[in-house]
Amino acid sequence: MGRFFLTTPIYYVNDAPHVGHAYTTVNADALARWHRLAGDEVFFMTGTDEHGAKVAESAAEHGTEPKSWADRTAARFEAAWRGLDISYDDFIRTSEPRHYRAVQTFLQRVYDNGYIEKGLYQGLYCVRCEDYYTEEELVDGNCPNHGTPVSFMEEENYFFKLDQFTDRLLAWYETEPEAVRPASKRNEALGFIRGGLRPISITRTSLRWGVPVPWDDGHVFYVWYDALINYLTAIGYGTDDERCAAWWPNVHHLIGKEILRFHCVWWPAMCMAAGIDPPANIFVHGWLLFGGEKLSKTMLQRLRRSAEEVKLTDVAPDVLTDDFGVDPIRYHLLRVPLGNDSDFSYDSIVARYNADLANNLGNLAARVATVVGSKCGGTGPAPDPASPLAAVAAETVAEATAAWEGFAPHEALAATWRLIGAANALLESTEPWKMSPGPELDGVLGSALEVLRIVAVLVSPAMPASARELWRRIGLPGAPEDLGVPDDAAWGGYPGGLPVEKGDPLFPRRRG
Ligand code: MSP
Repeated sequence: MGRFFLTTPIYYVNDAPHVGHAYTTVNADALARWHRLAGDEVFFMTGTDEHGAKVAESAAEHGTEPKSWADRTAARFEAAWRGLDISYDDFIRTSEPRHYRAVQTFLQRVYDNGYIEKGLYQGLYCVRCEDYYTEEELVDGNCPNHGTPVSFMEEENYFFKLDQFTDRLLAWYETEPEAVRPASKRNEALGFIRGGLRPISITRTSLRWGVPVPWDDGHVFYVWYDALINYLTAIGYGTDDERCAAWWPNVHHLIGKEILRFHCVWWPAMCMAAGIDPPANIFVHGWLLFGGEKLSKTMLQRLRRSAEEVKLTDVAPDVLTDDFGVDPIRYHLLRVPLGNDSDFSYDSIVARYNADLANNLGNLAARVATVVGSKCGGTGPAPDPASPLAAVAAETVAEATAAWEGFAPHEALAATWRLIGAANALLESTEPWKMSPGPELDGVLGSALEVLRIVAVLVSPAMPASARELWRRIGLPGAPEDLGVPDDAAWGGYPGGLPVEKGDPLFPRRRG
């Protein structure tokens, strides 16, 4: 048991939440739920990144002020996360007074420590990235991330002396080889550092929408420079030192690959400059990409766009949850490996839904309940202590635990589905529906019920509502998330003698 402080990136409010944002947030949520189950004290935060030119421009395009635009979009993110059953403990908005206080305290310390100086900045800027690029970094003269034109900017502003941290960063990477994962991303970050670091411009005079620089009225902080500090704001940096000291050493940042440089180079250096430890853990994942496949008709109607125009970033999470249900979409997002880029398509959601949820888990639950109904009067028997499923379950719990601990929800779920597959295979080979009542039949059915109990616990971080429903149907009191792993997932916890209900299919099969 320990503390687990988990963060998502805070999302820009220039645009509505989409499936890409949901991917990170659902994965973070499942990890947070797993750690609660494992008995850790968890603090899980997400939020919105509200300053900067991009948000100001977006507000102007919509004929409104940045703050009211941010209010509107932040509310959409909160609603999207409610819709996806996200169990965050804090939703931070960078326009909040608590964030201004933390940013000003943090950066004043960096300034007082001598790591900030004034200078003239000239460079090629991409507003959508809120970042400068060198000529060499451009692709065909355009932003390497967005493919859109960059503009020449010249400003007198304050610089953070990032170049002074090269050796300290390299030493940190050396002594903390696990801090940035996976290893390929660690190497990418090391590549940036070895490639040479330049001072970075951290204030703007061309903009008012930002956190004011405490030592110079005319400037606001550059959006990335205030945004990163949100992780400290949330744990009371500058106002509650005890709370901050308790959570900070246990931080885990989950981020997408395009913001690696900010989190894995700038942020550790900023922390060093402010006199605090760099973040303990940063886990970097790849992108979800929409393959060339066409979307379904219903989805297209809801999107009110032509097929050619639909991009991943156009798909609001509720388009998918309205269609498939919340838990199936959570499940799908969690089965996409957290690591490299992965294709995402409507057809793949349907295929996985039918294979894993309707055919495997749903079918196991339905078959067991049917036979308990017909042969045991609807009362579930106790499991067989010597069932061959006991060893598979123990292995599954160990594998799933290791995978959740290692930021691999997809592997944890794959292991859980191997147990479901083993239980289905046992039913097929023993055919309890043909057996006469007696200890043998009771042993098979009780063991299948025990598998369902263990599965409900193991999938509860991924599909909380479905896990609760499964739990209820097999007659257990309370909810699976009230249990503790691994102890309560040990073989033999299903007591028997409980009413088992069949009900409607948990996951009705879909045609498309
Ligand atoms: N505001 C910054 C982050 C500041 S953190 C201090 C930002 N915001 S964002 O709205 O653009 O969100 C970026 C994050 O959304 C990515 O890092 C990733 O977690 C998630 N994703 C956005 N599109 C995605 C995909 N297509 N696929 C997977 N994740 C995606 O950057």
